[in-house]
Amino acid sequence: MIQFQSNKTVAMGEAMIEMAETGSGTYRKGFAGDTFNTAWHMAQIPGLNLPVRFVTKVGTDSLSAEFIAGLGADGLDTSYIGRVADRVMGLYMIELDGAERSFHYWREASAARLLAEDEVWLGQSVQGAGLIHVSGITLAILRPDARARLSSVLACARRQGAIVSFDPNVRPRLWSSSVETRDAMQAMLAVTDIALPSYDDEAALWGDGSPGETIERYRAADVSEIVVKNGAAPVTVWDGAQITEVPCAPVTGIRDTSGAGDAFNAGYLAARLTGHRPDHAIVSGQVLSAAVLHHFGARIPSGQVPSLDIPPPHVDER
Ligand SMILES: Nc1ncnc2c1ncn2[C@@H]1O[C@H](COP(=O)(O)OP(=O)(O)O)[C@@H](O)[C@H]1O
Ligand SMILES: [Mg+2]
Repeated sequence: MIQFQSNKTVAMGEAMIEMAETGSGTYRKGFAGDTFNTAWHMAQIPGLNLPVRFVTKVGTDSLSAEFIAGLGADGLDTSYIGRVADRVMGLYMIELDGAERSFHYWREASAARLLAEDEVWLGQSVQGAGLIHVSGITLAILRPDARARLSSVLACARRQGAIVSFDPNVRPRLWSSSVETRDAMQAMLAVTDIALPSYDDEAALWGDGSPGETIERYRAADVSEIVVKNGAAPVTVWDGAQITEVPCAPVTGIRDTSGAGDAFNAGYLAARLTGHRPDHAIVSGQVLSAAVLHHFGARIPSGQVPSLDIPPPHVDER
């Protein structure tokens, strides 16, 4: 079973400015992005005080400054949020058409795409980390040479004892082809300890016929811990010794499914970092994702992130 050398968490990726239509052609401004959502929720879980750093690049403009200030106020470590003078943060708009929502993105030239330009800086950002969290979106926004630098930073950090978690979060429109997507995802598995895929993404990209097949594919790449999310269906987990299915308690009053997987990752990883076994940690993931499903937007409102009501840490009796 995976052991963490510290609870210091470093998440890497892109946060975007979110403009969510409020119904009348007016928009509410926020900030969101998959690894950012996970990092933010981890830092907000009451009683845990997890040290969480978010690593990205933003602009030198006032919106970027507002993003950094907000993160700092919410208790995250912002010391590795680089500023790029001639770039800004990516932006997306959520447009409402009745209950249907559509997403429009302006992120092709965002500052975050330069996240892995400087390998030394990136290496310093993960010094002493117990857990490093990245996603397939983190990979997708990087050029192939930058992806290779990220990979070498992760390999080096793992040699120093860090655990790497990876959510593939497949977003076809960020990739040039499914071949490129599969190649980049597969290469990432060589530096992944904990994989957090969603079954529908994996089925679409790889043709997996069941969550069990997804587990087999990741096991073949030597990933130690594999957690396959599947919407309202049970979560299937390989904990290094066995496969277990953890059913999901029914969630009523769902307002918006965005960010469910990111919040799940936060609950799961926070529980694992604080000594809980994978099957118990899944319950924490489900608690956080149920909370995000009850709200519009990809994050639970500040102050409403639930505490993790889970059994005491697993003690290995051997
Ligand atoms: N309809 C739903 N009912 C209950 N829980 C859900 C539902 N959709 C998502 N969840 C919760 O969110 C987690 C992640 O959802 P999933 O849809 O698999 O990920 P993603 O948001 O990344 O696509 C699930 O494991 C489950 O706990
Ligand atoms: Mg997801």
